[in-house]
Amino acid sequence: MNIMKTIVVSAFILLSGVAQAAPFGGDADVQYANDLWSSMVSESYVGEGAIKSRPYTGQHPHGAILDTIEGPIVISGKIHNIIIKRNYGGPGVSKNTVANDPARFLKAVTIMLKRPGYDPENKDWFWAKYKASGEIDTNPKGVKLAGKIAKGKPVGCIACHTAAPGGDMVFIHD
Ligand code: HEC
Repeated sequence: MNIMKTIVVSAFILLSGVAQAAPFGGDADVQYANDLWSSMVSESYVGEGAIKSRPYTGQHPHGAILDTIEGPIVISGKIHNIIIKRNYGGPGVSKNTVANDPARFLKAVTIMLKRPGYDPENKDWFWAKYKASGEIDTNPKGVKLAGKIAKGKPVGCIACHTAAPGGDMVFIHD
């Protein structure tokens, strides 16, 4: 291949890559997820003195013991509905130990946030998975889990939640 052709072909590959925004883990989604964590902390959904909820025995892939809270949250000056699933595990984990000291057993926080216009094909949910520290978790390829997390193992949020009854992608509502 001559040099000119190589340049043209590489430029094309680069540009088509840029034009097609990644469904999750891109800069805008990561920024949004980080802002969201700050709002969750200031509204006591996570962190020191977080709102408590009754722990229950979980199902794969969400962890041994879970609790789920739901409510309004303000982010970038707009109010949204959020469903937050806090995932607990580790030695000694049980409904009782979690009820007494949730922070000690917190392993991950998975959220669905209703964001009108964000993903009309999939009911406009913004998805994210955080570590207990608030850092955004990654998939095995190192891509941050924030945005339209469609497919992929073990975390294809949308692919699995499509199976929730009622067609809203939410399991606990039915
Ligand atoms: C293999 C299937 C599966 C995958 C993948 C999955 N979930 Fe779930 N999720 C469930 C099930 C089943 C429930 C309800 C039962 C429960 O409480 O554990 C649930 C519950 C939830 C809830 C509480 C609201 C509800 O629907 O009941 C949130 C929030 C949530 N998941 C977020 C996520 C996020 C974020 C991801 C991706 C990082 C994800 N889930 C991936 C199966 C899955």
